[in-house]
Parts: sequence; structure tokens; C-alpha cells
Amino acid sequence: MLTARISGAQTAPDAPTPACCDNSAMSTTTLPTFRISPSILSADFARLGDELKAVIAAGADWIHFDVMDNHYVPNLTFGPMICHALKPHAKNADGSAVPIDVHLMVQPVDALAAAFADAGADLISFHPEATGHVHRSVQAIKAKGCKAGLVFNPASSLEVLDWVIDDIDLILIMSVNPGFGGQSFIDSALRKIEQARKRIDASGRDIRLEVDGGIKIDNIARVASAGADTFVAGSAIFGQPNYRTVIDAMRNALARSL
Ligand code: DX5
Ligand code: ZN
Repeated sequence: MLTARISGAQTAPDAPTPACCDNSAMSTTTLPTFRISPSILSADFARLGDELKAVIAAGADWIHFDVMDNHYVPNLTFGPMICHALKPHAKNADGSAVPIDVHLMVQPVDALAAAFADAGADLISFHPEATGHVHRSVQAIKAKGCKAGLVFNPASSLEVLDWVIDDIDLILIMSVNPGFGGQSFIDSALRKIEQARKRIDASGRDIRLEVDGGIKIDNIARVASAGADTFVAGSAIFGQPNYRTVIDAMRNALARSL
């Protein structure tokens, strides 16, 4: 596991993290750089811009943007126009950008992926089942200048990685079934995270391993120990009055997991 974590600690596939949000102070060059990516799915939609600013001020590394189409998943959220409207606010106090981490739960993928790239997305991930041509969709996202990720549902196999791991920047393991915030973490995701970590290490590539669903202060360390380096959290953060308290507690738990 140490080897896995060391290789996971190489340069992250995103813009340099600004000083106010960088957790490198608690890391060394041989330890992973953890990222916390709050999901605005659980934010107050009537105050989305303010919520974005508040969670960035509280220490968010990325902003997780859950796109649902009421077709691939039984829920409907926001589209590229909302991403475009929020993009100018996705920055730290020093003006540095906070990456927008778009999780597409849509079918088909390509047209919306392109629209989100145009709207300012930095990373775009999609479910391989939702596109007819996974490799082509990955290439199309990268051709737009974005990082590309693949998302794996709780019952989905990692096998497609045999053929595209050399092309992707991020693997997103779902630890709930996609479609809703506030669900409980599915424990079998831990085994899948371990398998994904092995594949990343074997590839020798710099690929983020992100986990999404049911992440809380009290389980984030276990998820990190399985090999994850990036953590989506929606209800755990936006469900509490003080976002910084939650994010700090998550970072402390991650530091203790090392
Ligand atoms: C579920 C979404 C998740 C969700 C996580 O379809 O992909 O990002 O917002 O929410 P929590 O952290 O509440 O489980
Ligand atoms: Zn998500």
C-alpha cells in the first residue's frame, strides 16, 4: 500500500493548489496530496453563488458538479449554463482558480461534455455505460483541454480500464448508486478502490482516484487507506452550519490515516 500511496502522490492532474487550500504542509514528497471536492448538489440552490464562495473560503480544493439528466439517473439537476454562471466565482481569495470537477450522469455523453468544457469545466467524468464509444468520448473531452475521468457504479467492473487507463486523468469510484445525495456508503467500494489503486500504480501514470457518495468525517480515513486521494462530500459539508469545521475535520482524519 505504501508504494501505491507514493505513486499516488505525484503531481496532481489539475492546476497548482493555492496556498490557502493546499494540504502539502502536512504531507511530504512521498505522501499523497489529498483533495476534498464538495458536491454542490447538497448546497442551497437558491443561493448557489454564495454557497460556492462559502465552501471555497472554507477550504474546498475542487468543486464537484453533479449533472443529472432524468434519463441515465432518476433525477434532474443543472446544466452548462449554471456552470458558466458559477465559473467566475470558482476562485480563491488570491484569484487562483478552483477546478470545477464535473460528474456527468447523463446519456449520451459527448454533446453535454463539450458544452461543459465550453462552460469552464476543468475535469469531466462520465459513466462508461452511458456512451457508445468510451475511448472516443475520452479523447473528445481531452481535445477540449479538460482532464477526463471514468466513473464506476457500485456494481460496475473496472475492466474497461484495461483499454483506456493510458488516456484518462481520473477514476471516480461511486460508493452509492448515482442520482441522489445523502445516501449511505456501500462498503464494497473499498475493495474496488484497492483494485483501482493497483491499476493506477501498475500504469505508472498520474491519475487521481476519487470516491463519491456517503463520505463523512468518520469514514474518510478508511477510504484513504484503501487508496483514494480525492473525496467528494455533499451532505456531510452542506448539511452542517460551518463548512470549514467539517473540511478541517476531514483533513485531520486524512492526516491521521497516513
Ligand atoms: C450522487 C452524486 C454525489 C452526491 C454525494 O449521484 O454523484 O456526488 O452528491 O452526496 P453525499 O456526499 O451526500 O453522499
Ligand atoms: Zn458526483
